[in-house]
Amino acid sequence: MDGSRGPAGFATQANALLRKNLCFQKRNVKTNVCITVFPILLCVLLVVMQGIINREIGKPEYRCGCACVDTAADGSCRRTECGVQYSTQDQVATCPVPSPPRWPAVLQLPPPESRAVRTASQPLHGLPGPACRHTRSCPAAFLVTGGNRSLAQSLSGQLFPALSSPLNFSDYLHTLSKIVSGSEAPASFRQFLEPSFTPGNTLYIVQPRCRPNFLQTVSVNAGTKPLKLSK
Ligand SMILES: *[C@@H]1O[C@H](CO)[C@@H](O)[C@H](O)[C@H]1NC(C)=O
Ligand SMILES: *[C@@H]1O[C@H](CO)[C@@H](O)[C@H](O)[C@H]1NC(C)=O
Repeated sequence: MDGSRGPAGFATQANALLRKNLCFQKRNVKTNVCITVFPILLCVLLVVMQGIINREIGKPEYRCGCACVDTAADGSCRRTECGVQYSTQDQVATCPVPSPPRWPAVLQLPPPESRAVRTASQPLHGLPGPACRHTRSCPAAFLVTGGNRSLAQSLSGQLFPALSSPLNFSDYLHTLSKIVSGSEAPASFRQFLEPSFTPGNTLYIVQPRCRPNFLQTVSVNAGTKPLKLSK
């Protein structure tokens, strides 16, 4: 082989490339240090943030309350139980609810002061006069439209089954799923708990005709509550 003129061997090429790169990197020391240190810095920051967050959410007011339910003879605790019953008011929201009370589907009803009434711009026959808004006694009106009046009437007559009184609420889920119940609570309030099923609030039963003075108290898991009828 000619030697001086021939193509360089692999080792020679690699060696040259390595030297060239080393030389190049040496001129950019600061850049290289930055590239190396940045991920380390990021990791340190994450660890510090995790520590702060863990310490904050580990505080007693963000944890379900616990108590020792079984103490051994030497005073050590054998079994700890956590739950709503051992929590303060601040802690209750963080407790798991293993078997939440169930309730049937509830129809959204407008609050009594916003229900449809007959006005000059809306002179629909069958709507009550505006006076009932002041006494909060307006029935909830449902608008049914269709080309064939008799067909629409017979179909909409089936929408809200009439009540066979008195209701037997010993199995309230079963009873309430046979009738149409309603709530006037805004939907944004009931993502976790429907206010109608808490004591002191009203659960409506939607009926084709209002019945006067229908009041019945129902026992659900959450407590007792009165029922009120509305059209
Ligand atoms: C309306 O519906 C009824 C059935 O409920 C039917 O007998 C009648 O022919 C329909 N009328 C028209 C105009 O379509
Ligand atoms: C209500 O229904 C339960 C069974 O679901 C029955 O045992 C009870 O006697 C009923 N109560 C009344 C008042 O009908």
